[in-house]
Amino acid sequence: MAYASKHGSTAEIAEAIGDELRAAGRTVDVRDAGEVTDLAGYDAVVLGSATYMRRWRREARRFLRHHASALADCPFWVFSSGPRLSVSSWNFDGGLRGLTIRR
Ligand SMILES: Cc1cc2nc3c(=O)[nH]c(=O)nc-3n(C[C@H](O)[C@H](O)[C@H](O)COP(=O)(O)O)c2cc1C
Repeated sequence: MAYASKHGSTAEIAEAIGDELRAAGRTVDVRDAGEVTDLAGYDAVVLGSATYMRRWRREARRFLRHHASALADCPFWVFSSGPRLSVSSWNFDGGLRGLTIRR
């Protein structure tokens, strides 16, 4: 579970998801996306980012770029934290453009 948070809300959401996964019997690390250097040893990845000015946080965008090939080979989920971005307008224009992640 990796998160990119400025004021802490997204980190809290990541911790809450992590708690639910642990309650379901999973072993979970919850870490700042900017501090994750290697995905080796993880069976699945969740990435969450706060949204500011319609863009994901830089740490999340870097995480996606840096780990793109590893993410293409494991189960991968994302969530976005930001109340003013509706699902219909959630086009990742600040984040995933140009990245191909196969699922
Ligand atoms: C200056 C500013 C810009 C924001 N821009 C957006 C935005 O473009 N889209 C959105 O959905 N939320 C936007 N938000 C709301 C934040 O993304 C939201 O409060 C988020 O949960 C903050 O996460 P954090 O506490 O982890 O930093 C903005 C908030 C601020 C203060």
